[in-house]
Amino acid sequence: MTLPSVPNPVGVGAALTFNRDPLGTLLAWRREYGPHFVAQIASSRLHVITDADDLYTVLVGRAKDFNKRDSAKESLGPLLGRGLLLSDGDFWRRQRRLAQPAFHHKRIVTYATQMVAYAGDVVARWQPGQTYDIADEMTGLTLRIVARTLFNVETGDVTHRVSDALDVLLPTAARRARLPVRLPVGRRVTDSLEALDALVYAFIEERRADPTDRGDLLSMLMAATDEDDGTGMTDQALRDEIMTIFLAGHETTASALAWTFYLLSQHPEVEARLLAEVDAVGHPPTYDAIADLPTTLMVVKEALRLYPPAWLFSRQATTDVALKRGVVAAGEGVWISPYAIHREADVFPDPERFDPDRFTPEREAAIPRTAYIPFSTGPRVCIGNSFALMEAQLILATILQRVRLRLAPGAAVEPLADITLRPKGDLPMVVEAR
Ligand code: HEM
Repeated sequence: MTLPSVPNPVGVGAALTFNRDPLGTLLAWRREYGPHFVAQIASSRLHVITDADDLYTVLVGRAKDFNKRDSAKESLGPLLGRGLLLSDGDFWRRQRRLAQPAFHHKRIVTYATQMVAYAGDVVARWQPGQTYDIADEMTGLTLRIVARTLFNVETGDVTHRVSDALDVLLPTAARRARLPVRLPVGRRVTDSLEALDALVYAFIEERRADPTDRGDLLSMLMAATDEDDGTGMTDQALRDEIMTIFLAGHETTASALAWTFYLLSQHPEVEARLLAEVDAVGHPPTYDAIADLPTTLMVVKEALRLYPPAWLFSRQATTDVALKRGVVAAGEGVWISPYAIHREADVFPDPERFDPDRFTPEREAAIPRTAYIPFSTGPRVCIGNSFALMEAQLILATILQRVRLRLAPGAAVEPLADITLRPKGDLPMVVEAR
């Protein structure tokens, strides 16, 4: 069987078309070429797959036959090294085993109080009638939460320095990941990376000097030793995991929250349901309140469907793998786009419509496992998925108990498919006291 393929008339591949409008192009290709087609992007032959059975094969059934792509390792490697997101094989398995306990249900419960406290600080600072860039506010908030819960770093100076450096590094990494040619890295980028490295290594050194168990992720990683030779993680390995969790653990949740606030501002009937729910819980929410916030969770899930922060991730086959319509040959890439997958109309009728009731427990149970994958699925599923959902629920409840957010008059909101899918430019919203 020959797979449909995107035409490549001038031999440079479809990178140019794709880069101009990644989201629109993905949907247009899907309409034109079906649920499994190939595209030549620069020097790579890529399979773009939205078919739920094939996705099951790639992410679950034959997950061990797919690695992270070399190109992802190249573009994000300087920042994330061999951290969980980019590593493969035995090294990845060991690191995942070491990090996993920090994300166990029992531990996550203890983070709830801090999440609510930090969200409370943000809303206490906001002045009614004033406009804030909610995307930026959420990025600061989620960064402080990751720093405090997983690394016991107090807010303030450090988080500012981290976000300044990431502001330079992330857009660059996103651009580099998509360019057909490798560009030399600019001075601003190397400076920012050095600044971030210095910060993280100083932090590791401080903790090595006083290795008291603080019960956080870093203590777990530092105490962990290899079963065979008894060695612990090197400074480099620790640095890579810290960078990875900082990065993967805040931008994504921040985007999800920004989109949720935007969607609520456009759907007053859903907002009204949510306000009634958070009011019934009383101030301020606690971990136990989560069970009483089912609509909040449905709203977050629906926002993650329409605007999945990880809008595109990828794999590379290590051996030939047969799918329903054709074979992914060893070395070829696979693009997995939750943005496109979440718009398959047979699973999500009228896909562009914001409708949190798609995620009532009964209806959610009918969604195939690989048709809704904001956190991916299978062995490489997001390690922070429960953390993120709980965080989003608690932040929304804490904020909405006190204020509503209105989109600033005249603001135009459109998605920007960067490393994460975020609102392009600012997301200016006006705070209205309740
Ligand atoms: C709404 C928020 C989030 C979304 C949408 C999200 C999405 C994802 C996705 C799709 C992957 C798989 C990527 C791939 O296979 O290429 C992933 C992996 C990962 N995520 Fe998340 N994530 C979120 C929050 C978090 C949080 C809060 C943390 C940590 C505190 C985190 C840490 C990680 C790590 C370490 C990996 C790599 C796991 C592995 O390969 O073993 N994420 N995430």
